[in-house]
Formats: sequence, structure tokens, C-alpha cells
Amino acid sequence: MKRNISGIVTLIFLAAAFYFVLPPLVGVRAVNTPAIQDAALKKDLPKEIMLSKDSQSDKYGEAAFNHETHSAKNYSPDGKAIIGCAECHHTDQPASALKPPLKTAERAVVLTLEALKAPGAVGVKTCRSCHLQADDDSKEMPKITYEGKSTATKLTNEEAYHRNCNICHDNAIKARADLKGKIPGSTDCAKCHKLIE
Ligand code: HEC
Ligand code: HEC
Ligand code: HEC
Ligand code: HEC
Repeated sequence: MKRNISGIVTLIFLAAAFYFVLPPLVGVRAVNTPAIQDAALKKDLPKEIMLSKDSQSDKYGEAAFNHETHSAKNYSPDGKAIIGCAECHHTDQPASALKPPLKTAERAVVLTLEALKAPGAVGVKTCRSCHLQADDDSKEMPKITYEGKSTATKLTNEEAYHRNCNICHDNAIKARADLKGKIPGSTDCAKCHKLIE
């Protein structure tokens, strides 16, 4: 296992060296490489976001999300800690920090405010850049085969967001009875989504 990890680290290091060091030396870099797109990724933290504005459902529309409270206040299920950025932005951490079933790592350090301000740090991808809407087949959809399941679950935006938002909310309501009715549980669809008439 140890050897595997150091192997992977060496590979990542070599890949980075080839990617960042060689092209400028040789004076070429293909247009539209990930690095160039990455430069356009946002580094400013959103405050309040309206998600699901382009919902394809004829019933469940916009869903509001307060990024400021969720990333800066004690919003862990027990109400005692701030949620780490990488708990939601799960690909923004090194492979060594991932817990199964996660396996995709795109950042060499765990995402924090400080890490985002560091010189050369790339911005953050939106969830939707990977978790596509159900009918979008422009990219490969992330998948996980969950324990006890025989087929892989396609992690559409709906599946990914619901797992992220709802599992935590249900745990928070379980841990703190005072939150019941105050925050949306997984079945309180209309407390998150504006219903489309
Ligand atoms: C904690 C808030 C929350 C709750 C509760 C919730 N959802 Fe969602 N739902 C979201 C978010 C966030 C998205 C993804 C938004 C995006 O991709 O912009 C979403 C996506 C969806 C989509 C896909 C929309 C599309 O992009 O086409 C459907 C359908 C949906 N939800 C239905 C439901 C139903 C039915 C329930 C109740 C069983 C429910 N939601 C409960 C937040 C919630
Ligand atoms: C509770 C989940 C959650 C936490 C915690 C969280 N974020 Fe986010 N973040 C989101 C969601 C959801 C979006 C909206 C993505 C989208 O539009 O699809 C977002 C968007 C962003 C964006 C804008 C991305 C873009 O390209 O539009 C940045 C930057 C960002 N977050 C940084 C952070 C940092 C830094 C932290 C930790 C201090 C953090 N986030 C904590 C869920 C979270
Ligand atoms: C770079 C692509 C990418 C981005 C950006 C991304 N995801 Fe994922 N997500 C994946 C992949 C791939 C998986 C499957 C597991 C893996 O490979 O790590 C996954 C798995 C998940 C899972 C299932 C994890 C579990 O334990 O069951 C959730 C929930 C999830 N993503 C939510 C989100 C949310 C919320 C955001 C934005 C804050 C986001 N993802 C951003 C690619 C991405
Ligand atoms: C890791 C835990 C966690 C995740 C992930 C999470 N939330 Fe929350 N959320 C909370 C907690 C805890 C509260 C209640 C805080 C309190 O009132 O003390 C809350 C409150 C809310 C509320 C009530 C208003 C507010 O902002 O306080 C809404 C709406 C909400 N969350 C939507 C979302 C959506 C949409 C997502 C997914 C994009 C999400 N949350 C992801 C823990 C989480």
C-alpha cells in the first residue's frame, strides 16, 4: 500500500513536471489545455447561490444555497465545527486525503481559504462541471458502485447534490432535535425547491 501511494505521488510529480516545466522551456503549449481553462475558474467564494435554475423537472425548480453560512459557520451535523471545504469540493484534495468511495483527486493540497489564496493556486470547479444533468452525455458521468448494490449509481447533479446536502441535513436533524422543521430534511423537497406551477 505504502509503495503504491509513493508510486502514485511520483507519477503525479512527474506528470506535473512534464506539464508545467517542459512546455514553457520548449515554448509551446496547446490551446485549450486544462491549465488554461483552470485560469478561468473562480477563486471568489460565493455568498448566496441559486442552484437548479435550469432544472429539467416540470415540478422541482430553483434551490437556494447559502455558501457563506455553510463554509464559515458551525454547520457540521453536531453544530460544533465548520465544514471543511473538501467535504463538498471533494476532488479538491490530494489522493492521500481521500476516504473511500472517493478516488478522484485534482488538487495537491486540501482546499482551504489559505490554499486558494496561495500564489499559483487554481480556482474551484463547479459541481456541475462533473455531475451533469441526467440527459447530458457530453462527458462521462461519475459513478460509484455502492456496497450491497450490483449496479453502479450514476452521479447526476440530482444524485450528487442530494447525497451531499441531504445526508448531512438528515444527520444534523438526528443529532439535534431543535433543527427538525427548521432545516430541510431529505423528503422536504419543497423546502429546498421552488415548486414549478
Ligand atoms: C437540501 C435541499 C434539497 C432537498 C431537500 C431536495 N433537493 Fe432536489 N436538488 C437540490 C439541489 C441543490 C439540486 C441540484 C441543483 C443544480 O444542479 O443546480 C437538486 C436537483 C434536483 C433535481 C434535478 C433537477 C435538474 O437539474 O434537472 C430534481 C428532479 C430534484 N432535485 C427533485 C427533488 C425531490 C423530488 C426532492 C424530495 C424527495 C428533492 N429534490 C429534495 C436540493 C434539494
Ligand atoms: C456545504 C458544501 C460546501 C462547502 C463546505 C464549501 N463549498 Fe464552495 N461551493 C459549494 C457549492 C454547492 C458551490 C456551487 C457550485 C456550482 O455552482 O455548481 C460552491 C462554489 C464555490 C466556488 C465558486 C466555484 C465556481 O467556479 O463558480 C468557490 C471558489 C468555492 N465554492 C470555494 C469554497 C471554499 C474555499 C470553501 C471552504 C472555505 C468552500 N467552498 C466550502 C459547496 C460548498
Ligand atoms: C472534477 C470532477 C468533480 C467535481 C468538480 C465534483 N465531483 Fe463529485 N464526484 C466526482 C466523481 C468522479 C465521483 C465518484 C467518486 C470519485 O471518483 O472520487 C464523485 C462522487 C460524488 C459523490 C458521492 C460520494 C459518496 O461518498 O457517495 C457526491 C455526494 C458528490 N460527488 C458531490 C459533489 C459536489 C456537491 C460537488 C461540488 C461541491 C462535486 N461533487 C464536485 C467528480 C466530481
Ligand atoms: C456537512 C453538512 C451540510 C451540508 C453538506 C449541507 N448542509 Fe445545509 N445545513 C447544514 C446545517 C447544520 C444547517 C442548519 C444550521 C443551523 O441552523 O444551525 C443547514 C441549513 C441549511 C438551510 C437552511 C437555511 C440556512 O442556510 O441555514 C438550507 C436551505 C440548506 N442548509 C441547504 C443546503 C444545500 C442546498 C446543500 C447542498 C448544496 C447543503 N445545505 C449542504 C448542514 C449541511
